Amino acid sequence: MKILVTGGAGYIGSHTVLELLRGGHEVIVVDNLSNSSEVALSRVETLAGRSLTFYKADVRDREALRRVFREHQIDWVIHFAGLKAVGESCAMPVEYYDNNLYGTLSLLTVMKEFSVKKIVFSSSATVYGTPEILPLTEECKTGGTTNPYGTSKYFQEIMLEDLYKADPEWTVVLLRYFNPVGADPSGMIGEDPKGIPNNLTPFIAKVAVGLLPEIGVFGTDYPTKDGTGVRDYIHVVDLAKGHVVAVEKIAKSGVYIYNLGTGVGYSVLEVIAAFEKACGKKLPYSMKPRRAGDIAECYADASKAKRELGWEAKLGIDDMCSSLWNWQSKNPNGYN
Ligand code: NAD
Ligand code: UFG
Repeated sequence: MKILVTGGAGYIGSHTVLELLRGGHEVIVVDNLSNSSEVALSRVETLAGRSLTFYKADVRDREALRRVFREHQIDWVIHFAGLKAVGESCAMPVEYYDNNLYGTLSLLTVMKEFSVKKIVFSSSATVYGTPEILPLTEECKTGGTTNPYGTSKYFQEIMLEDLYKADPEWTVVLLRYFNPVGADPSGMIGEDPKGIPNNLTPFIAKVAVGLLPEIGVFGTDYPTKDGTGVRDYIHVVDLAKGHVVAVEKIAKSGVYIYNLGTGVGYSVLEVIAAFEKACGKKLPYSMKPRRAGDIAECYADASKAKRELGWEAKLGIDDMCSSLWNWQSKNPNGYN
């Protein structure tokens, strides 16, 4: 199939493009490189032994998108492009709504013009807000989001569902990711956050490689197994494969919603211990107050994706940490 991947140079996008190429699909990437590097794409081509087509363009630029759709007969769109930092979204709500909402509206407008009606959307566990029950199933209430990033994901889900209601020829797949971690086992592609990482595992990796002095553990008094926050970490390669399965298996129009997680929650201290095992050294950390906006615990019921798509996460926390360490130690400065 011919698949347009927006945001395909980014962390999850590059891993998904690689799995799509490995699966024999033809890939067209649109990315404005605002949070990524073209080097990732050339490494993906090397790893896959196949080439892809790249357009450096912003998804808000409808003329640029029209050119892509004119030049290629697209079967599916996988839409990763967007801004994703929770803290930054609180400081820059206008920029986040502009990029994420306007970007998706622009893409959907052009897809409609060209009658391309199949889309996989990168959603997030963040749409569930503060979980009422655990594990989170796809039926759990959404909304009640606590930051503009999360709210933009929630709005985009609604936009896509409304689109299907108006035109049942659409196929809309909402993949709600839990916490993606790790890298392709080659160590050639991985997560390359700009500046000081906000997320736990890239932060740990930078401490391990000596670029940051110590890990801060945000909150030690949560009602969890050891008082620290618990999350469902999922290997990025498993996550990437979830997208390939979605485009290959979903043949009928409709709205499909899946949690992509492992169903297992790990605490911050457990993740640090797993990373210490992977890198073979003790890592300095200190206990800090809770981070504003954090929830205590979040993990998925991922059984629907297994039941309906035959997809399940295969890789565990040790694979996540060792592949992240492999990437970070081979590329201490990311793609630079
Ligand atoms: P990323 O920043 O590495 O990738 C996003 C890519 O989109 C980047 O390459 C960036 O340059 C590009 N981009 C941003 N705005 C664009 C625009 N207007 N036009 C064209 N390209 C644009 O992030 P990621 O971690 O790979 O996340 C991919 C998607 O998954 C995002 O939508 C994100 O919100 C979602 N998601 C990520 C996580 C996570 O923890 N990483 C969790 C849940 C959902
Ligand atoms: N944490 C620390 N120290 C750090 C960073 C994080 O202790 O330096 C803790 C957090 O308090 C939390 C856990 O590690 O308990 C995970 O935090 P992350 O920032 O890595 O991840 P979040 O669960 O906060 O959010 C991530 C993405 C969101 C996405 C969500 C999906 O940032 O975009 O996963 O579950 F929506």
